[in-house]
Amino acid sequence: MVNRYFNLIDQTYYFPQDGFDLEKDKLVFNGIPIMPLIEKYGTPFKMTYLPKIGDQIKKAKNFFNKSIKTMDYKGKYVYCYCTKCCHFSYVLEEVLQHGVQLETSSAFDIDLILNLYKNGKIDKDHIIVNNGYKTKQYIHNIANLINSGFKNVIPVLDNKFELDHFEELIQRKTKIGVRVATEEEPKFEFYTSRLGIRSSEVVQFCKDRLKKNKKFELYMLHFFVDTGIKDSTYYWGELKKGIKTYIQLKKLFPTLTALNIGGGMPIRNSLGFEYDYKYMIQQIVQMVKEACDEDGIHEPDIFTEFGKYTVGESGATIFSVLEQKQQNDSEIWYMVDNSLMNTLPDSWGIAERFILLPINKWHNDYGRVNIGGLSCDNSDYYNSEAQNQQLFLPMYKRDDKEPLYLGFFHTGAYQDALSGYGGIKHCLIPSPKHILVDSDENGNIVDWIYSEEQTSRDMLQILGYK
Ligand SMILES: Cc1ncc(COP(=O)(O)O)c(C=O)c1O
Repeated sequence: MVNRYFNLIDQTYYFPQDGFDLEKDKLVFNGIPIMPLIEKYGTPFKMTYLPKIGDQIKKAKNFFNKSIKTMDYKGKYVYCYCTKCCHFSYVLEEVLQHGVQLETSSAFDIDLILNLYKNGKIDKDHIIVNNGYKTKQYIHNIANLINSGFKNVIPVLDNKFELDHFEELIQRKTKIGVRVATEEEPKFEFYTSRLGIRSSEVVQFCKDRLKKNKKFELYMLHFFVDTGIKDSTYYWGELKKGIKTYIQLKKLFPTLTALNIGGGMPIRNSLGFEYDYKYMIQQIVQMVKEACDEDGIHEPDIFTEFGKYTVGESGATIFSVLEQKQQNDSEIWYMVDNSLMNTLPDSWGIAERFILLPINKWHNDYGRVNIGGLSCDNSDYYNSEAQNQQLFLPMYKRDDKEPLYLGFFHTGAYQDALSGYGGIKHCLIPSPKHILVDSDENGNIVDWIYSEEQTSRDMLQILGYK
């Protein structure tokens, strides 16, 4: 009986598929053979394949713009990138090459914006949407940005009190947005999102505070269904409510022209992932159009703030299996050369799934395994139970010359920010080195080290050891 890992994948999924292929028995990710990178740099490492970021942006823009054209929709589409998803300069530089606007979430984000400006990556016309709860420092930084001449900064009020502080500090006429709180999915622990202004109060608040306001003109309504853009009754219901609020406000505020539906566009987290991006985007545009047409309202410009979608699929995290441990008759552990909690915190914190594939040994027999991280924490693992899937990988012999290498794919979103890249790590296990891969002007693939593995000196210094 054929029991090879390759046959398992071949029979279970469409394979090869977009971004994943084989050369002999070795994995190729977005056209990049991974084994030569392992030979050159050693494991563990994180990698970012930069061209994927542009591909994702182009795909979403095309679907929105095509839908807008075919439906004769009167508004336009504005793609924003939310920096919190991955703040690295190489990501921001990549997204800015594709005409993308930006969304911020905290005070330091404004310093990031100023740095981009100082280095000529954006100008003062760039759209900067400010979301999130506004601390004093964040409000102060936003006000400074506006007072220094940035023309398209759009502070989005997360609560009613923020307006007083902005009024005090901002010295010029400014566009402003309001965020309306969405209802959570029924299975959630609470009913209404803590983010945004209550939907029952938002219209009255805008009437009371913005109608005769000389400084602020209402420009944007924002809401974000944070479980993501899904073809579910819940998602379409929340979108409908958001559009209804937009229409109510638009009747009162002619200056309101932007509907911001936030992030939440999903990415592939398994080889069996199926999602019809074109259909979902068409449905969104159509729903906005039909509702506006019914009320004789001009259709809004549709803003999105896709984070994970923009950058998630560009990332991978590569490990060696250091050892296999048979802990009872049915449980084998593959011990990898870093901590999973540290490098992929979402796999631990919210049981997030990533595409997990071996890099080599695809022609070996396969078996069911658990993957163990290096920290001594008993939650530092990835297996079938936590991720609600069976986890099969190639078997190998302890005396094989070549180790088994494993890759977690589509790990480019949030993991560095959540694990605190370069900070103190659980069990002092260092952040792995980070490799960037790009194609040069002749289309040749180039790779280089963005940052080396964290050193013990780094960590001891943070901890106060002189
Ligand atoms: C206001 C806002 N916009 C955009 C995003 C990005 O979401 P995603 O990464 O799912 O696209 C988030 C994520 O928390 C958010 O809070």
